Amino acid sequence: MRTDYLLSTRRIKDFRGDLFPIEFLRDVPFSAKRIYILTHLLSNEARGFHAHKTLRQAAICVQGECDFILDDGNSRQLFHLKADNDALLLVEPMIWHEMKSFTPDCILLILASEWYDESDYIRDYQLFQELISLQGKRFV
Ligand code: TYD
Repeated sequence: MRTDYLLSTRRIKDFRGDLFPIEFLRDVPFSAKRIYILTHLLSNEARGFHAHKTLRQAAICVQGECDFILDDGNSRQLFHLKADNDALLLVEPMIWHEMKSFTPDCILLILASEWYDESDYIRDYQLFQELISLQGKRFV
């Protein structure tokens, strides 16, 4: 089980409520050029199904719950994100990811290192696996 996908976070609690800071290059290992927010998600409609060539991302569930599957081409791991567990999930380049099982109130905040660029996407799982095996061969 890989644990390097999960980043440690801190929540500052007092009687007024919770404050959850995220500092770029401190709490997440990159600076963000873009954020996007996923809302009104359907529990029976999975999303994602792609990897990125260079984009670095981190995901946090700010409300509700959902499942994130990360796949490095060799193994798949399921992460259950829950607003209260403070998990910041790192989605690095060449990690196939899928999101599913959203609760009706789920809100996902995604921090992304670059502006949106469709040419950075790998949306074909077979191509993703071929690229992963080519990467492996480069180091042999
Ligand atoms: P899509 O990649 O299908 O979303 P998901 O990864 O959640 O399955 O993106 C849906 C649409 O939104 C698609 O037309 C691309 C567009 N989009 C942007 O314009 N900007 C963005 O930052 C993102 C993430 C997507």
